[in-house]
Amino acid sequence: MLKKIKGTQDISFDELKYWYFIEKAIKKVTNLFCFKEIRTPMFEATELFRRSVGEATDVVQKEMYTFEDKGKRSITLRPEGTAPVARAFVENGFVNYGLPLKLYYIGSMFRYEKPQAGRLREFHQFGAEIIGSKDFLADFEIIELAINFLDELRINDYKIYINSIGCKKCRMDYIEALKNYYADKKDQLCEDCKKRYDQNILRLLDCKEDKEISKDAPSILDYLCDECKNDFDDLKKLLESRNIEFSVDKNLVRGLDYYSKTAFEFRSDRLGAQDQILGGGRYDGLIDYIGNKSVPAVGFACGIERIIILLKELEYDIEFDSNPKVAILPFESPQAFNKAFEYAERLRRRNIETYVDVVNRSMKNKLKHANRIGVKLSVIIGEDELSNNILSIKEMKAGTQFNVEESWMDHIIENKLNKI
Ligand code: HAM
Repeated sequence: MLKKIKGTQDISFDELKYWYFIEKAIKKVTNLFCFKEIRTPMFEATELFRRSVGEATDVVQKEMYTFEDKGKRSITLRPEGTAPVARAFVENGFVNYGLPLKLYYIGSMFRYEKPQAGRLREFHQFGAEIIGSKDFLADFEIIELAINFLDELRINDYKIYINSIGCKKCRMDYIEALKNYYADKKDQLCEDCKKRYDQNILRLLDCKEDKEISKDAPSILDYLCDECKNDFDDLKKLLESRNIEFSVDKNLVRGLDYYSKTAFEFRSDRLGAQDQILGGGRYDGLIDYIGNKSVPAVGFACGIERIIILLKELEYDIEFDSNPKVAILPFESPQAFNKAFEYAERLRRRNIETYVDVVNRSMKNKLKHANRIGVKLSVIIGEDELSNNILSIKEMKAGTQFNVEESWMDHIIENKLNKI
């Protein structure tokens, strides 16, 4: 039997109620915060991710789905949404819309990671970006948007961690200090971190395996230049004054190279090893890198599958009544089928979800099926009904049945449904 690819998921109808619930919250909150949606392609030139996410990152080195297309171009399924949004911003001249531009997106991302709970190879992100503000106010608003989104979902069992990873200037001295710190500990590092020592030493700080070794590593916060330090202090003050609880995690460095200054993550103990609900930060150099225009920006992305794990854990009653309200059950005759489609059209015009049984089978089996799919009322069009211009309505739960005259059908059904 052909099976789905490892690390992917079929999202079936019982599962979709969570997706609808989350998408509704995204629409509501982004609308209230005046963010506009953007949809970018699911694949891009590999170069985009190599250059922006960074050659030395795990994402680029190990996790990208990269292939050559028939035109011999190197293509990559997007592993994340920020670089594509930055590319779209430059390519479409969005700068002309006036800045800052506040954008959000929902979509599939692809990373070749080892699948486990909360970690997939195709997963979905809700992301938001404020492009064109260098001020800590934008950092605050993006964090506030994320909090409001989780509030809307009634998720409050998480902690906010923030850090500043400084700008290029402050990072130079800091990287030197880190190299000195880890120099005599290199042998004890995990295999990945041994390689990262030369290529991407910041990542040693958030390696789960080498946590003990990194505990006493120098803190970036001691190396921040005045501008970075002031911005970070201002952000903390604003969060405090708005009563938003957070902790500073000096080892929070994020896994993608484009970040500078503010970095943040929301984590929940309920998620186990993959505890990050969402992550983001400032990426002031990215748009310059892609399009030679200095446009500072900040954003975050949230893993939708991780949100679903949390919603299931919390056992909230998330019911979306997607059952049809009425089933039309014609007996086997062209006139009855004709009537069935006519009745369905009339009911749907009244916004009543109507299911037509399109299988030739006995009325008993049709009723059984109508029961199974959870309809409230069945409309039976039998031979007698047809010849007398009436129809039978069966109330499925009560088991009662009554006849109505054809012309009153939609009106009576609408009334009845309001009472059930
Ligand atoms: P990221 O931290 O790589 O950041 O991913 C953001 C979120 O996507 C994570 O917090 C997690 O919830 C989810 N996620 C990541 N990988 C997986 C996976 N394999 N399976 C399931 N969920 C996953 C970014 O992608 C940045 N683009 C965020 C950003 C936006 N920064 C600025 N703007």
